[in-house]
Amino acid sequence: MTLKERTLRESLLWAKKKLEKSCERPQYEAELLLAYHLQKDRMYLITHDSDEVPNVEAYKKLVERREANEPYEYIVGEASFYDIHLQVEEGVLIPRPETEILIDLVADIIEKEGFTKIAEIGVGSGAISVVLARKFSHLKVIATDICDTPLKVAAQNIKTFGLEEQIELRKSNLIDEVSEDLDLVVSNPPYIAEDFLLESNVVDYEPKEALFGGRVGDELLKQIILDVKARNIKYLACEMGYDQKEPLEAFVKDLAVEYIKFYKDLAGFDRGFVIKFM
Ligand SMILES: C[S@@+](CC[C@H](N)C(=O)[O-])C[C@H]1O[C@@H](n2cnc3c(N)ncnc32)[C@H](O)[C@@H]1O
Repeated sequence: MTLKERTLRESLLWAKKKLEKSCERPQYEAELLLAYHLQKDRMYLITHDSDEVPNVEAYKKLVERREANEPYEYIVGEASFYDIHLQVEEGVLIPRPETEILIDLVADIIEKEGFTKIAEIGVGSGAISVVLARKFSHLKVIATDICDTPLKVAAQNIKTFGLEEQIELRKSNLIDEVSEDLDLVVSNPPYIAEDFLLESNVVDYEPKEALFGGRVGDELLKQIILDVKARNIKYLACEMGYDQKEPLEAFVKDLAVEYIKFYKDLAGFDRGFVIKFM
């Protein structure tokens, strides 16, 4: 950035150009980052467009991180999800909008069945457990993760929303360390095949442990199904990949299930399932 690109308007023009290759909406993202840098809302940018940007070098650094494909949420340390904002950082999956569908399905079951005790496998930022606990004040959740950073970040989000009494975090492979009686298990586990080509903003920044489910991709999903069944837990609800319906349908055929119901995301892709065990 040269000396003359110092006002909000000039800085935004510069940033938009920088972000053209890496972002679908360069103007919008340039504005979001400037609003974050100034700790103001986007309307402020319009009403103060000839003001000088304080510490313009710091804004430039934010733009350059985004230009290098770092996700916006890691840069600002926050992701919006469902009706809340969650703290995120590298090492934790950025919660995705499609996971909101899984939450709504699980919420329906909890409500209809009057469930009070569930577990989540792979808590990440806490997205699923936090939203469910906020919906049902009587609900107790045991939320596991195999990695330390998600457990740390989830703990911060649980504290922010005052849910320490409802959500207990546990370091565990799947539900190995959970021996309590449970009504339901919910999970958005890693389900991507190891050799699947992902975009740079995902594969270069988001944790591999949150993305890849094995060589084929559905290995952890299958293990979760077996573990939940072995524990005589009535319901399992999981997110999955768009191409995993057939193999998972075949897999549960030989298990004693009352039903497996698949659901789609808003783009019409198969995205997950609910199993009721017999
Ligand atoms: C796709 S992320 C989901 C995070 C969060 N639940 C969400 O929906 O945004 C999967 C999470 O599962 C965790 N994980 C991976 N393998 C696991 C295992 N064997 N047992 C428990 N957690 C695991 C990862 O560390 C990661 O946090």
